[in-house]
Amino acid sequence: MSLELTAPAPEEPSVADDGTWLECIACGAQFAPFEDVRYTCDDCDGLLEVRYASPPTWDDFEGRGVWRYNAALPFEEGVSLPEGATPLHEVPRLEADVGVETLRVKHEGMNPTGSFKDRGMTVGVRVAKELGVGRLACASTGNTSAALAAYGARGGMETLVLLPAGKVAAGKIAQASLHDARILEVDGNFDSCLDIVQDLAARGEAYLLNSLNPFRLEGQKTIGLEILEEFHEDYGTYPDRIVLPVGNAGNTSALYKAFRELVQSGALDAADVPKLTGVQAEGAAPMVEAIENGWDETRRWEDVETRATAIRIGNPVNAPKALPGIRETGGTAVAVSDEEITEAQRDLAAEGVGVEPASAASVAGLRKLRAEGVVDADEQVVCLTTGHLLKDPDAAFEAGDDPEPVPNDTEAVLEHLAE
Ligand code: F0G
Repeated sequence: MSLELTAPAPEEPSVADDGTWLECIACGAQFAPFEDVRYTCDDCDGLLEVRYASPPTWDDFEGRGVWRYNAALPFEEGVSLPEGATPLHEVPRLEADVGVETLRVKHEGMNPTGSFKDRGMTVGVRVAKELGVGRLACASTGNTSAALAAYGARGGMETLVLLPAGKVAAGKIAQASLHDARILEVDGNFDSCLDIVQDLAARGEAYLLNSLNPFRLEGQKTIGLEILEEFHEDYGTYPDRIVLPVGNAGNTSALYKAFRELVQSGALDAADVPKLTGVQAEGAAPMVEAIENGWDETRRWEDVETRATAIRIGNPVNAPKALPGIRETGGTAVAVSDEEITEAQRDLAAEGVGVEPASAASVAGLRKLRAEGVVDADEQVVCLTTGHLLKDPDAAFEAGDDPEPVPNDTEAVLEHLAE
């Protein structure tokens, strides 16, 4: 099995370009990385992974941000804004309240367009240039479209985004719009948008930059690399567990791949790999269902609903990569209610950390797993928060307090404050 945590470093095949190639995770077919546009396996339609003849070690990393980790990426540099080097916040009150030994929050909302998607796009748009493609496209619950629009603009390329009508937070559409993406609102959910954009890509109409594109996940590996490096610097150990929100399961797959490659190079012991713990909203939880039932695949949920619109997804395309990641690392998956998500959003805000609803799912999930005794009191945990508060101003207003109207008069203001 090619997705085992302890699989040895692969032999370089003849199709490799400078030690890099594409390999199907289902049948093992190998392909040259940059000769043709390809998203899935020609032979069996399985998911593709980028493979390297020499997986990276800690000494290879130099500089700051995503491109610090270029030894783990297919290029030396990319179309950059720049991205990465996000904060790993301490949250002492929340840590005590949840009841774990250590809790840190990796806030990916601090990337240039306000979500982790920038890490994938800096690599994905670089690959698009290598391949010489024309129009870039994605389906999106919002953040991918914002990142694609910004990085496409930076790279001087045309962008097209397909969004589920009425289900994308205001900040994200505003970004896609101002960065000049062509925005199509589809009368359907995210999964239908992805079906259409895959059809467009198959017909050569656009280069697909959803997380089905294996190069995007390469950039997102750097979340895991940053967490391990920074945590180790602070504590001399690696976190026991990383808790993250799950939609298409791209990050889950990417973090697992980052850790596998470090194990392959000998930089990390398999026993030190953090337990990958995925959190979904109750109304969109096919990954949780698959983990609970021991399935190797997810069942497509046709009807999905959650206030956390970023993860309103019923058909997680990266499930075949992510399910082994959760299982091999000893992690789990859990579903949380919209109320629990909003509560966690308030908890993070009370520590000064402003996140959008989907991001707060990680903290809500940790709280639930701790209460159930799945997570122990002596664990060191990192929660990933994937997007910034300002992405979804409506949700922030709903979770927060309303402004109070007062007259234009100091005495009246004092009276009001005394009430
Ligand atoms: N959190 C946020 C804020 C997201 O925008 C997404 C995905 C996820 C979590 C889930 O990440 O897919 O790697 O499991 N948003 C995509 C988009 C689908 O179109 O912006 P995943």
